Amino acid sequence: MYYFTEPMAEADIPRVQEIESQSFTTPWSANTYRRELQNTSACRYIVARASYTPPSATPRPRGLFATFFANLFSPQVVSNGVVAPIVGYGGVWLTVDEAHVTTIAVDPQHRGRSVGELLLVGLIDSAMQLRAPMLTLEVRVSNTAAQNLYLKYGFRPQGTRPRYYTDNGEDALVMWTDRIDTPEYQNRLTELRQRLFARLRAQAERVVN
Ligand SMILES: CC(C)(COP(=O)(O)OP(=O)(O)OC[C@H]1O[C@@H](n2cnc3c(N)ncnc32)[C@H](O)[C@@H]1OP(=O)(O)O)[C@@H](O)C(=O)NCCC(=O)NCCS
Repeated sequence: MYYFTEPMAEADIPRVQEIESQSFTTPWSANTYRRELQNTSACRYIVARASYTPPSATPRPRGLFATFFANLFSPQVVSNGVVAPIVGYGGVWLTVDEAHVTTIAVDPQHRGRSVGELLLVGLIDSAMQLRAPMLTLEVRVSNTAAQNLYLKYGFRPQGTRPRYYTDNGEDALVMWTDRIDTPEYQNRLTELRQRLFARLRAQAERVVN
């Protein structure tokens, strides 16, 4: 299985909401997603897709109209005529001093195959495009899988927000990266990215052979 990411489009929202309902107890409305997608100066949302064949190398069209149409209709990435389904999604939101990871989730059937990591790398890249110096997020204190993913990419616990989650009153752990524009962080990211892509390639070849 080949996994790859691309910008989320409005037409992707129903599938994103399906994954969301399998992952979180307090889902966002479709309108919330629409507003986030329209806020292109401060928000970046991406989806991960799965394909049995390598994704097309054809670059996506750029420019005002291309962006407009891409947001109206899903790009429906095809490889050999097959639509690659969405298996995960994530987003960042730029505030004054940092990029906030607002959400990240992977279809339960595709977890443990580096899709979450691929999405997080995409979100860190998005934060760099938005010129955010650091990233931050909240995560349930019980969510060790997500915390391990964030620790791997240099997020560190910096405190808690008591009873942050309204469904069960659970505390949130607040995590921050150091500055992401330093050579140290960039070198670490390059190393992690290389290992991730090697793992994804090996995984894809195992399924094909
Ligand atoms: C958190 C989540 C996005 C991780 O996605 P994933 O595709 O399963 O994770 P990956 O396969 O990319 O794993 C990347 C890293 O995450 C950590 N991790 C993932 N699953 C884990 C698990 N079950 N136990 C412990 N650590 C885990 C590991 O550090 C792993 O790196 P490693 O392979 O070098 O050990 C996914 O579990 C999910 O969608 N959970 C529900 C939604 C959610 O909790 N989102 C986070 C909100 S803050």
